[in-house]
Amino acid sequence: MADQFDPQRFTVIDHPLVRHKLHILRDKSTGTKQFRELVTELAIFEGYEAMRDFPLEDVEVETPLETTTCKRLAGKKVAIIPILRAGLGMVDGILELVPSARVGHVGMYRDPVTHEPHQYYCKFPDDIENRTCLIVDPMLATGGSLTAAIQFLREAGVKDVRALTLVSAPEGVRAVLDFDPDVRLYTCALDRCLNEHAYILPGLGDAGDRIYGTK
Ligand code: PRP
Ligand code: URA
Repeated sequence: MADQFDPQRFTVIDHPLVRHKLHILRDKSTGTKQFRELVTELAIFEGYEAMRDFPLEDVEVETPLETTTCKRLAGKKVAIIPILRAGLGMVDGILELVPSARVGHVGMYRDPVTHEPHQYYCKFPDDIENRTCLIVDPMLATGGSLTAAIQFLREAGVKDVRALTLVSAPEGVRAVLDFDPDVRLYTCALDRCLNEHAYILPGLGDAGDRIYGTK
C-alpha cells in the first residue's frame, strides 16, 4: 500500500522490532505505563531513520594509540515540535538521540464533529528558521492537525520539515504530501482507512487518552 506514495518523501519504518512493539501498542489491553514506554521506544527507532541523511564532517581524534580522522555531525541544529497532547509522548525518545535539540510546541485538538483542528497554543524556539524541525505526533488521521503544524513552521521560515507519526491513515498521508511538496513523512505503520468518526482502522484508539490515561 505504501508504494502509492513517493518513496523519496514517505517512509514506513520496516523493522521486526517496530512491528513487534506496534502489536502491543495496538492491543486494547495494554495499560498506560507500557503504552507510554512503547511510544518512547518507537520514537527512537523512527528518529534514527528520520536523521539518516544528516550531513557529517571530518574531525581529528587522538585515540590512546594514534591520531585518526573520524566523522561528526556537521552542526545540524534540530528542533522537536510535538503536537499536543499526544505528540509529547514522543519527545523523550527523540531527545535520547539528540539531547541538545530545542523543543517547540503546537497545541491543537480535533473538533469531535467536524474533525477540524483547533489551535490553542504555539511556541517555537527563537532561531527556529535555522533548524531542522521534526514534528512528532503518534497519529495521522485526516491530516488536518499535521498540515496546520507544517503551515505554522513554514510561516516561521523553516526550510527542513520532517514529520514523524506512529500510525497513519492513507487519507492523512495523501493530504500532507499534497499540502507541502517538500515535507518528508515517516511512520511506523500505514493502516487501512478512517472510520466515520475519522479514527484510524485498525489503529490503536485515541493516542492522547491512552498515553495520559484519560477518557
Ligand atoms: C489526535 C492526534 C493528532 C490528531 C490526528 O489528537 O494526536 O494530533 O488527533 O488527527 P487528524 O490527522 O485528523 O488531525 P487530538 O486532537 O485527539 O488531541 P490530543 O492529542 O489532545 O488527544
Ligand atoms: N486521533 C487518535 O488519537 N486516533 C485516531 O485514530 C485518530 C485521531
